[in-house]
Amino acid sequence: MSASALRVAGELLVPGDKSISHRSLICSALAEGTSRVRSILRSADVHSTAGVLRALGVDIPALGDDITITGVGLRGLRDAASDLDCGNSGTSTRLLAGVVAGSGVTGRFVGDASLSNRPMRRIARPLEAMGARVELPPNGGLPMTIRGGTLHDVEWVNETGSAQVKSCIMLAALCAGVEAKVIESPRSRDHTERMLASQGAEVWVNEQSVLLHPVARLAPLDVAVPGDPSSAAFFAALAALAPRGEILLRRVCVNETRIGFLAALREMGAQIELVGRERIAGEWIADVHVRGGATLRGISIVRDAIPTLIDELPLVACLAAYAEGETRVTGAEELRVKESDRIAVVVGNLRALGADADELPDGFVVRGTAPVLRGRVVTHGDHRMAMAFGILGTLPGNEIEIDDPDCVAVSYPAFWSDLGSVTGT
Ligand code: S3P
Repeated sequence: MSASALRVAGELLVPGDKSISHRSLICSALAEGTSRVRSILRSADVHSTAGVLRALGVDIPALGDDITITGVGLRGLRDAASDLDCGNSGTSTRLLAGVVAGSGVTGRFVGDASLSNRPMRRIARPLEAMGARVELPPNGGLPMTIRGGTLHDVEWVNETGSAQVKSCIMLAALCAGVEAKVIESPRSRDHTERMLASQGAEVWVNEQSVLLHPVARLAPLDVAVPGDPSSAAFFAALAALAPRGEILLRRVCVNETRIGFLAALREMGAQIELVGRERIAGEWIADVHVRGGATLRGISIVRDAIPTLIDELPLVACLAAYAEGETRVTGAEELRVKESDRIAVVVGNLRALGADADELPDGFVVRGTAPVLRGRVVTHGDHRMAMAFGILGTLPGNEIEIDDPDCVAVSYPAFWSDLGSVTGT
């Protein structure tokens, strides 16, 4: 099919980065003094982190564009007054599990049906090795009860390559006043390291590991959360698909552990430029300019690159249906334990709508046939699935219904109105 009638133009300030927003709340709560956080993402997942911190005794205000948070210090949390409800958010659960374990308090983590089935042994094992007690149901998900205690130093190989696991261990060690070394290759996103270093923690990073030394206190934060590259990715893809597409995505986080999607899109043939790159509060930020019009071609993405675009892979699969040749992603078995089994769900939906795609145990293959897609997408409540197919739904000729469009509230509540504004619909 031809996307010739699709018009994409303008500029967009995508909402704040989800990973940095979670960490801004947690690191402000653990600091001594008053932190200031601007442009925090106000989405369901970040509200979950705020709610859990409140239940642990931190006075977190209603989330707004410019908030201040008075920290309780590294040993200031109290036992949870209620269950710690993390909703749909794996990041809230795993990072705050580390905080609870290291703070010597007790908390019972609960969540929605998707989160309750996601793997928690990956954090239970290192936390137990440090001396915490963790109770899990037989499926290894939620509810999960953590009883903190006196923890000891840890050296852990992060086999899943998960930044959530790395951050859980670092936050547990930070709160407990012990040393943590996390070994990983390839490196996962490093926002925790950057934020803690900006607060005066001693963090040593190299290509294979992260080492955190104990510290007596954390200084308060003063951050402006940059735009989320995982949210910006949908609009970068949209512009790349449109023959006369052009978009400027303003103030996006371009931390090198997060920009694998831009590299992939460039390799597929799109013209992408980073403008005005600057470093603010430890993170790199730039305006991202994407110009469409080129014929996209299929690419191969392998294990080493996966952490840099893990959340964008459903979008890669969708885009690949309109790229010439085959796109093959391997080494991405982590996709099976995200908000949904993202390999099965993206391939299942693509096939049901009329595209040529196959599952691999650790990824997928999509053959670009430029199909006309018709039908209903079953998202399984997965926000990124709704948005990825939402982009395909704008292509002329496609008729795609999303079963649960409201699930975008998890990371990008204004997604549908922003999509309307750049496509002029
Ligand atoms: C996140 C890390 C990633 C990512 C998630 C957010 C984080 O998960 O998929 O959306 O903020 O640390 P893993 O680290 O488990 O891969």
